[in-house]
Amino acid sequence: MHKKGFIFDLDGVIVDTAKYHFLAWKKLANSIGVDFSETQNEQLKGVSRVRSLEKILQWGNKTLSEEEFIALMAQKNEDYLSYINKMDASEILPDVSRVLDFLIEKQQAIALGSASKNATPILKKVHLLEKFEAIVDGNDVSKAKPNPEVFLIGAKLLGIAPEDCIVFEDSVAGVQAANTANIISIGIGEKSVLHEADYIFKDFTEMSQEFIEQIISGEIQKQSNSDLSINN
Ligand code: BG6
Ligand code: MG
Repeated sequence: MHKKGFIFDLDGVIVDTAKYHFLAWKKLANSIGVDFSETQNEQLKGVSRVRSLEKILQWGNKTLSEEEFIALMAQKNEDYLSYINKMDASEILPDVSRVLDFLIEKQQAIALGSASKNATPILKKVHLLEKFEAIVDGNDVSKAKPNPEVFLIGAKLLGIAPEDCIVFEDSVAGVQAANTANIISIGIGEKSVLHEADYIFKDFTEMSQEFIEQIISGEIQKQSNSDLSINN
């Protein structure tokens, strides 16, 4: 039997939490007199909480004491959690459940590889936690994406070599992390943004069962040159 390791990013791949990160960061930025646009929010995708606040401070040309920095991060997370607490299964992105169930039916190994420290509560809220054999999140890593640490730990926990793993990612940093780990990178989102990925789909509704079967059988492999990537 062919067994591969499928590693999913969370925010923007399984659930559309980017809108909640945006609302919480915007409130925080505005509270210290810094403007914050949706375009800037795009640049925070896949970026850790600490690094996100550093970037916002840079954009607004602000400096904070360490205590203020820590207090603002806690404030942002409190606001973010107030949105997360209202989430339910209706916020799972289209066809994510279909793909997860198909992989389970095919007895494939499934892990989460996310920068978020809120990954487990979010998966619980949307009733997907039990679908994952391993969870690697912001609490488990010391090096943020594009460092491949998060996915290498995921592969290890699944007991599957990185070259037999596949990552689903919506951020450039995450695609780069998968590529560095020699893992097949599948971008979920816009081709113009995720062109470094081996394969790109707008969302999971575009991903056929046949494509997934071809990954499992090994017919679909890592592209040797990302610039020549076939896009389904
Ligand atoms: C990533 C998100 O998955 O997790 C980022 O794309 C977010 O926007 C990061 O900042 C950290 O998340 P959290 O939940 O630990 O603040
Ligand atoms: Mg993401």
